[in-house]
Amino acid sequence: MASPSTANKRDRPAKPAPQSYFVKSFGCQMNVYDGERMGELLDADGMTAADSADAADLVILNTCHIREKAAEKVYSEIGRLKRDGPQRTIAVAGCVAQAEGAEIMARAAAVDIVVGPQAYHRLPALVAEAARSGRALDTDMPAQSKFDMLPRRRRTNASAFLTIQEGCDKFCTYCVVPYTRGAEVSRPWSQVVDEARALIDAGAVEITLLGQNVNAWTGTDEKGREQGFDGLLRALDRLPGLRRIRYTTSHPMDVTDGLIAAHGEIAALMPYLHLPVQSGSDQVLKAMNRSHDRALYLRLIERFRAVRPDIAISGDFIVGFPGETEAEFAETLSIVDAVNYAQAFSFKYSPRPGTPAATLDGEVAPEMMDDRLQRLQALLGAQQAAFNQASVGRRTEVLLERRGRKPGQLLGKTPWLQSAIVEAPDVAIGDIVTVDLLAAGPLSLVAAPVRRAAA
Ligand code: 5AD
Ligand code: SF4
Repeated sequence: MASPSTANKRDRPAKPAPQSYFVKSFGCQMNVYDGERMGELLDADGMTAADSADAADLVILNTCHIREKAAEKVYSEIGRLKRDGPQRTIAVAGCVAQAEGAEIMARAAAVDIVVGPQAYHRLPALVAEAARSGRALDTDMPAQSKFDMLPRRRRTNASAFLTIQEGCDKFCTYCVVPYTRGAEVSRPWSQVVDEARALIDAGAVEITLLGQNVNAWTGTDEKGREQGFDGLLRALDRLPGLRRIRYTTSHPMDVTDGLIAAHGEIAALMPYLHLPVQSGSDQVLKAMNRSHDRALYLRLIERFRAVRPDIAISGDFIVGFPGETEAEFAETLSIVDAVNYAQAFSFKYSPRPGTPAATLDGEVAPEMMDDRLQRLQALLGAQQAAFNQASVGRRTEVLLERRGRKPGQLLGKTPWLQSAIVEAPDVAIGDIVTVDLLAAGPLSLVAAPVRRAAA
């Protein structure tokens, strides 16, 4: 096992040893998952979870480095935390910690701990170290996986996240992930299945499998057979008590025939696919090093729809990649037209230090980026609204996940990942209820349990 590379600075007094903690996660769902696991580690170490950052002795900022705006947030958060509680221990975790660990220590004196995404199993030791000697930093990517050191899962919501794969070998030219999360690594089959079982035992009925490139997962099953992602899906489908399976994020180049077939065969696999395309222009896709073209993407969507006609398609888009012309951007609008998305995420290109695209010429002017993003989002928003509107009148199932804003309201998700508001006295969080979808708002649907609607 690699030894922790903790770098301690004894240049200022340590803060009191923290008793309570709060994890604030930014960015993607993998960070949410990591944040939950950090909490479990600290619980096992005798600390208690606080309800808010203000009430906690230790605040962990679990950061995102994907775009500049996301990365800058960390410094404003540190400033606020320092002002409101100078004795509070501040830890920076996540992808900014990995990318800028030493700089954070230099730039923000209030930060006591820096811990990277592959080293957070050592968090309790780092907290102790910081309390003893002032500061602790660990951005190792140790050979032995952190997953081997994490406690068994005992706490979950009805809908749980489960990271099965981390890192990325694709090296899209705009993206920091290969640098912050490292090379593509799949968690072993038995470890994934065991964690899924633990989550189900703890009350999960839905599991979302996570990975930067989740469908690149590979492993060996208990009989020693090589398995791909679809094999893993089939194994999870056999676990009693698991009603819904989702996964994100997938890459077009790792979509296999088996995965497409799985969508037609596994009832628990929800009819939803997040398949980022980033751009509709072959020239831009090439400059992004996406290793697929527009036609391949469209063909994949067609094949998913052939086996699962109601599948909801979601995607990610970047506008204003260096050199993107108006005609190339128009091709992004036209691929959106061709696909017809149920949901999507779109971003202005943000140059990230150390990535190949950051050195490219052809910067797109900020006003042009704004304009393109606005046009793209108008189209995507209209598609999402139309998708939701078309669901009205459908009878379907909603997994109830949390309380709504008004008393008596519960919020849940349809199979197509739409938010649904359900009002009924005799349903509870964790239930999967059959409902009629009555109305669509811009962001959510109103649903009524079938029994009540029939009365
Ligand atoms: N600038 C803007 N958006 C980016 N993304 C990744 N890197 C960048 C960047 N440098 C977007 C992509 C990706 C999503 C997670 O974030 O669309 O799919
Ligand atoms: Fe952000 Fe990407 Fe890291 Fe997730 S993996 S936290 S999106 S940089």
